[in-house]
Amino acid sequence: MAKERAQWTGRLGFVLAAAGSAIGLGNLWKFPYITYENNGGAFVLVYLGAIALVGVPIMVAEIVLGRRSQKNAVGAFRVLAQGKAGGQLWRGVGFLGVMTGFVILSYYSVIAGWTIRYILMAVSGELGGLAHHPADLQAFFGEFLSNPYQQILFHSLFMGATIGIVYFGVGRGIERAAKLLMPVLLTILAMLVIYSFWTPGFGEAMRFLFRPNFSELSASGVLEALGHSFFTLSLGMGAMLTYGSYMRKRDSIPRAALTICALDTIIAISACIIMFSIIFSFDFEVTKSSTILFTTLPVVFFQLPGGAFVSALFYVLVAFAALTSTISLLEVVSSYAIDELGWPRRRATLTMGAAILAFGTLSAVSMGGNAALSNINFIGRPSTAGVFGTLDYLASNWFLPVGGLLIALFTGWILSRDETREELEEGNGPLGWKFSLWRFLIRVAAPAAVGAIIVSVILGAEYQ
Ligand code: TRP
Repeated sequence: MAKERAQWTGRLGFVLAAAGSAIGLGNLWKFPYITYENNGGAFVLVYLGAIALVGVPIMVAEIVLGRRSQKNAVGAFRVLAQGKAGGQLWRGVGFLGVMTGFVILSYYSVIAGWTIRYILMAVSGELGGLAHHPADLQAFFGEFLSNPYQQILFHSLFMGATIGIVYFGVGRGIERAAKLLMPVLLTILAMLVIYSFWTPGFGEAMRFLFRPNFSELSASGVLEALGHSFFTLSLGMGAMLTYGSYMRKRDSIPRAALTICALDTIIAISACIIMFSIIFSFDFEVTKSSTILFTTLPVVFFQLPGGAFVSALFYVLVAFAALTSTISLLEVVSSYAIDELGWPRRRATLTMGAAILAFGTLSAVSMGGNAALSNINFIGRPSTAGVFGTLDYLASNWFLPVGGLLIALFTGWILSRDETREELEEGNGPLGWKFSLWRFLIRVAAPAAVGAIIVSVILGAEYQ
């Protein structure tokens, strides 16, 4: 008999691990800067709408596929598509997911590695020295990015930590790490939100975030909000599917999905409140919004009392958030090798982790470290220059939305109404009209919205 599949020890274990996957650089690094670029208010509102109407239903769908099949991303489609329209072709969705996980992890870990460098600098006092002269910090950051040895070193350290945790498996590795890291993360974040409350820029930050002005929102901003809702919730490539496959039958999928989406959203909004309060407290000019996290915040931190402490705390927070996300990305690839290739977990984790580490070195040296790899540009837009830019563009603009669309179509149109209803009510009890609402969203509303993103990308709308 096959070995029994690993499970989370309880409801909390699953929710924390999945929330850990969702909450990451997407919330703390990407969301604040795209919100800044899109002028806040209206963008935030559209983002919240996308989470509710597209994110939540697809989150539910992925968990249903995983728990129903008890398999990895490829195995889930292999088992669930048997005898249905499209048959084994649906496995392609799983393969796309595993490949996307491989690609995203390879470059995500490079950015995550920067946080290690910043923690070390905050603790050693080096960051304080640089932060008192904004130009020095900018210069430092530029040199750091283009130093191939340092980029590879910190990327490798981050991959090492990720591999080390996934190696120990679902219970002793992933769940234990999430239970340790997530409460720390939530506590630090709550402290920083309270801290920002007392800064003079708090009121302006709230107005910026919550007073919508639709004339300031462009069409591409709408699409960007929708696209980001996939990335931030870890949807579209089978990460939630894989974590769902370890979920106990007696726990409720709808309740878990709502909790995860709510936590992710609260953290993203909190990150904005913290950063904008601090930025608006000073007449600080944000020169390049994508580097707010690494070149603007330290400057402002050190203008406040306790800057060394706050900044060390802050980068520890970012590192933890990124780590629980990289774990989930590696687990998608590892569980595929374990289930489908029959590898033992240790071999799967070490081999796949090493391959991703190696592939990631290309991204690591593509931010100035290596001229050729930094300049190649197949897509031809400024933001898609270099290996890193190309991979991020392909993953977030193509692989995740296409994967998400196919997952929605499969769950809504290929699985039967009774099958999905049974899985959703298992551990929850009768859902009544809520089931009909979800089914409408997953069959019609979500595919239509995601289809609109994909069509607009094809027509050339910039939604990066
Ligand atoms: N959601 C994470 C973030 O916001 C990143 C992430 C982890 C992810 N796993 C994923 C994104 C799977 C897409 C798919 O940082």
